[in-house]
Amino acid sequence: MRIETILSPTLFHQIENIDRKVVVVIDILRATSTITTILHNGASAVIPVKEEQIARDYKEKGYLVGGEREGATIEGFDCGNSPFQYKPDIVANKEIVLTTTNGTKCIEMSSNAHQVVIGSFLNLDKVVDHINYLNKDIVLFCAGWKNKVNLEDSLFAGAVACSYTGGEFDDSTLLCIDAYRASKKNLFKALQNSSHFQRLASKGVTQDIAYCCERNVINSVGILKDGKIVLA
Ligand code: MLT
Repeated sequence: MRIETILSPTLFHQIENIDRKVVVVIDILRATSTITTILHNGASAVIPVKEEQIARDYKEKGYLVGGEREGATIEGFDCGNSPFQYKPDIVANKEIVLTTTNGTKCIEMSSNAHQVVIGSFLNLDKVVDHINYLNKDIVLFCAGWKNKVNLEDSLFAGAVACSYTGGEFDDSTLLCIDAYRASKKNLFKALQNSSHFQRLASKGVTQDIAYCCERNVINSVGILKDGKIVLA
């Protein structure tokens, strides 16, 4: 199995034969961690949308709508992008609409893949089990921040790749593996100087970061099916 890592959306065009590959979309802080949590808390689906206006249209139709820009909740939306806002009593059996600065765009970009899988540390082993089961070449697609590489998504790519002993890795993946090995004892500490840690900390949501660094606390995985993210 070949594993390639796309460290920024600007490199996405380099993926060849995407329809034959599984793309794991990675936005650890916080979109893909939040989506994983929403599904775990009982939502029937998460509808990822790129544009704020499309989310507003859903809101008018009565959907529960969440989203952020620059890390802050969008005015008039029901929730932001904090996983703690999507409690079971709020999301159970509902379809939740979500738009975020980077993560939901990357999900949409990947929609021609053989399958899109939502990656997070919260369900790391489950993501690995699922892509093993699919037995296809893998793209680890890091959302980054506004086309820039970021540390937390790269560390997750390394964590996934570390679980394969016989895989064939590109150089980006090898970089991520080394970074993860150096940081895995304390992810929260390893991220402390990173840009999005600082951005979120300045908004007082350090508890979100600590939660998104937890490993294997959720035993399910989200996949994209007909434009909606549902449990695999
Ligand atoms: C994103 O999609 O850019 C992020 O999830 C931003 C955030 O932390 O809310």
